[in-house]
Formats: sequence, structure tokens, C-alpha cells
Amino acid sequence: MNKFSARVVRVSAPGKLMLLGEHAVVHQRSCLVTAMDTRLFMTLALAPPHDKTLTIHAPDVKVQWVQRPLTEVFEGHEPLIRGTRFIERAVAVFGAQFGLTQGVRIITSSDFDSTLGLGSSSATVACTLYGLSQLLGIPLSPRELFDLGLQAVLQVQQKGSGFDLAAAIYGGTVYYANFPPREIMPLDVPGLPLVVAYSGIKADTDTYVGYVNQRLEHWPDPMMSIFDAMQHLVFAGRDALTARNWAYLGELMNIQHGLAHAIGVDTPELANLIFAAREAGAYGAKLSGAGGGDCVIALAPPEKREAVEQALAKAGGEIVKIAPHAAGVRLELMVR
Ligand code: PMV
Repeated sequence: MNKFSARVVRVSAPGKLMLLGEHAVVHQRSCLVTAMDTRLFMTLALAPPHDKTLTIHAPDVKVQWVQRPLTEVFEGHEPLIRGTRFIERAVAVFGAQFGLTQGVRIITSSDFDSTLGLGSSSATVACTLYGLSQLLGIPLSPRELFDLGLQAVLQVQQKGSGFDLAAAIYGGTVYYANFPPREIMPLDVPGLPLVVAYSGIKADTDTYVGYVNQRLEHWPDPMMSIFDAMQHLVFAGRDALTARNWAYLGELMNIQHGLAHAIGVDTPELANLIFAAREAGAYGAKLSGAGGGDCVIALAPPEKREAVEQALAKAGGEIVKIAPHAAGVRLELMVR
């Protein structure tokens, strides 16, 4: 323990939604993502000196007081149950970098349903690394947290772009470039008039990333051209965001959705919601994330917001009342 360490800390990190550039960002392009104000909370405490275990209690994902020796976590043993894998990998990455000799107890709770696809795994990694840095008194910059977090994420799922981790750590609205030197640029865009609706269908991101990879294998040139087109939309969208030109951003979202259809990740249910939002006066609407289900997003002028929400609900969507541009990972409480 150093003199800046604490006995207990409580931290939190936001969820996220993709504004533009999904799938292309996996293939070394960039995207725009906004942090959503629905948070994962994590309490971390140092265990007594004789206790060299990692203990995890995460009832939201059915993890009840799972305990294992730190040595097993560091050696990369398979997690005992699936729900602990992101925490275990983040603890291992942190331990490899800074050393961790004392046991740690971690409790998580979330104010969002993990089925909504809002990014609970990236928030978990962000909370674990930031929480450990606060607990042990080792200050880390957002970029240092991100670089460590990405190592942890890629150990669990090789396919991800890391955009969700950038949102969980930096918060706000972020331009994220998944090519060297992996630029993460926070954008100043309060007041984004976003409407969110859950499609009622839980989609598995890895499965849809896999489908896109298959299509890429069969049709490399058209698929690469689509990813390039998405990249153009992201550049234009970044300008539209900073100029707060919502009508223009809405058009870009519509085009992105058309391209998502072309790469094979749209579904009749999603398209139905999206057309309903547009017909009710949205500037634009699209699927957000991997596709196949999860959430759709729309941009709506203030006077049309209610109509857009009603149209989405009538078309079978569940309106999710959460604000974009939320704060990134942060300290909620510290007990020394
Ligand atoms: O389904 P989500 O919200 O996790 O978003 C996935 C976005 C992808 O671009 C398809 C994957 C990624 O890691 O960037």
C-alpha cells in the first residue's frame, strides 16, 4: 500500500451508443460514439493482507461471490464463469503492469439492463482499471487507461474495435479512429437530440461481426468500398456534430443505415422502426451497433420528438429514456 491508496473506492462508467461508422471501424476505419447516461457502478476494496484472492460479486450478471487466487488470474486460467471474464482480464493486465500483491474484492451493479447492448463489458473494464488505479493511488491518464483496457478487451474478444471502451473512459461524444495512431478525439456536442428505442431483440455483436467478415471474404472490393463510404460519413458527421447541424447529421445517419443494410446487418424489425421514426419527422434514423437487433437511434427536432417516440413505440420499439454525452469513468466515493 502506498500513502495515496484507499481502503474502498466506488467508481462508475457510462454505457454507449454508436452514432456512425459501425462495422467499418472494425476494419481500420473510424466511428462516432456517444456515452449514454446509464451507468455501471463498481465498488473495489483491498482484502486483508493474508487474503490473496480476487472476489467478484456481480448479481446483475448472475455472479455470486466468485473467489479465486490472484495467481490463477495472472496466469490467465479460464474464468470459472463467463460473467467474470472482463474483470479478470482487466485485473491481470493491471497486475502485469503495476504489480498487485494484495487481494481485491469487487462488487458491481448496473442501472442498465445488459440486454440493451449499451456496452456493459467495456464499462466493466473501464471501472476495474480506474477503480484499481484509485484504490492503489496510481494515477493514470485516460489514454493510459484505454491502452491497458484494450489489452484486456482483446484477450476476451479478438474482434472488437475498442470504440466502446473509448466511450466508457472518455465519456461525452468521441471520434474514434481504429488505425495507427488510434486517435481518440472528444467532441464538444451537448444537446444532441437523440431518441433511443430498443427493438426487443437481443443481438450478439460477435455473430454479426462474423457475418460481415464472411461477406467481406466473398465480396472484398464492394465491401471495402462500403467501409470507405462509411468513413466519409464519419468525417462529415464529425463536422456536423461540432457545427450542431442536426438535419445534416440525420441525413448521414440515413445513409449509414442504407450501408448497414448493404453489408447484411439490417433486419425487417429494425427497418420497420427506422422508417416509422423517419415518417414521424425525424431528421434521420439508423440501427446502432452491430445490427440484428438491440437499439435504433433517431435524431428529432424538439417539436417532433414526441411524435417520433410515439411512432417508434407503435412500431414495436421500447423507448429508452437516457441522455447522450454522459460523463466518462469517474470516482463516486473514496474511503481512506
Ligand atoms: O453492438 P455494439 O453496440 O457492441 O456495437 C458493435 C459495433 C461494431 O462496430 C460492429 C463492433 C466494434 O467493436 O466496433
